[in-house]
Amino acid sequence: MSDFEGLKALVTGGASGIGRATADLLAARGAQVTVLDLDPSTVTKPLLARRADVTDDASVRAAVEAAAAEMGGLDILVNNAGIGAQGTVEDNDDAQWTRVLDVNVLGMVRTARAALPHLRGSQRAAIVNTCSIAATAGLPQRALYSASKGAVLSLTLAMAADHVREGIRVNCVNPGTVDTPWVGRLLDAADDPAAERAALEARQPTGRLVAAGEVAAAICYLASPLAGATTGTALAVDGGMQGLRLRPVMPS
Ligand SMILES: NC(=O)c1ccc[n+]([C@@H]2O[C@H](COP(=O)([O-])OP(=O)(O)OC[C@H]3O[C@@H](n4cnc5c(N)ncnc54)[C@H](O)[C@@H]3O)[C@@H](O)[C@H]2O)c1
Repeated sequence: MSDFEGLKALVTGGASGIGRATADLLAARGAQVTVLDLDPSTVTKPLLARRADVTDDASVRAAVEAAAAEMGGLDILVNNAGIGAQGTVEDNDDAQWTRVLDVNVLGMVRTARAALPHLRGSQRAAIVNTCSIAATAGLPQRALYSASKGAVLSLTLAMAADHVREGIRVNCVNPGTVDTPWVGRLLDAADDPAAERAALEARQPTGRLVAAGEVAAAICYLASPLAGATTGTALAVDGGMQGLRLRPVMPS
C-alpha cells in the first residue's frame, strides 16, 4: 500500500511548476488531491481543482471548504503559491512590497487558517510550505523576494511549535533555482537568455538547475506519514548551493 493511500491533499499554486509536479506525485502515490490556483484550467483528472486567489480571504475559505467537503476531509496542505520580484531595496515601491508579501506570506496564512480546522480531524496531518534558498543565502537583486521567503521560514518554525501538540507537522522546502515556467519567464526577459541560464546553472554546485520533480519529491517526503517525527525543519533542494563551498575550477 502506498504511503498516501486514503490521504487528502490540497496544493496551492498547483497548476504550474513545482506545485503541479507535487500534485501529480501525491496523486501517483495514492493521495486524493485538489489544486487551488488562480487559473486551474490546465488541471486534469485525477486531480481536482478549485479556483482561488490566495490574496482574497473569502475565496480561499470558500475553496478550502469546498475541497474538504468534496474529498471528505483534509490531511495535507502544501502552501506553494508564490510570485517573484527582482531588484535591490531601492527598486520596488510600496505597492510591490505589499503585493509580494500579500501573496507569498499572507497567502500561506490564509490557506493555513482555513485548513487547520480540517487538519485537526486528521491522524496524519502535515503542512509543507514552499520557501526558498533566498531565505537563507543573500542573493543579489532579490531584496523583496528574500524578505518574503525569510518570513515563510520563520512562519514555518512558529507554526510547527504552535501545532505540534495537535499532531500537525509543519515543515518547508528551500529550493535553489528550479526549471519551471517561472524561471523560463525570467530567462525570456533577460538580455542574453542563454548566458543567464548558464550563470544560474553555474551557481549551483551540481552545475544544473533543480527539476520541479525533485522539489516535489522533497515536499512529498515531508508530507508523508513516513516523516512522522519531522517537524520544524527546512529541507534544502538546491543542488548543494546553500551548504557547499567548492573551490573554483582553474583552467589547466
Ligand atoms: N522556480 C524557482 O526557481 C523557485 C525557487 C525557490 C522557490 N520557488 C517557489 O516555488 C513556488 C512555486 O514556484 P514555481 O516556480 O513553480 O512558479 P510557477 O509560476 O510555475 O507556478 C506558480 C503557480 O502559483 C499560482 N499563483 C500565483 N499567484 C497566485 C494567487 N494569488 N493565488 C493562487 N495561485 C496563485 C500561479 O497561477 C501558478 O500556477 C513559489 O512559492 C516560489 O517562490 C521557486
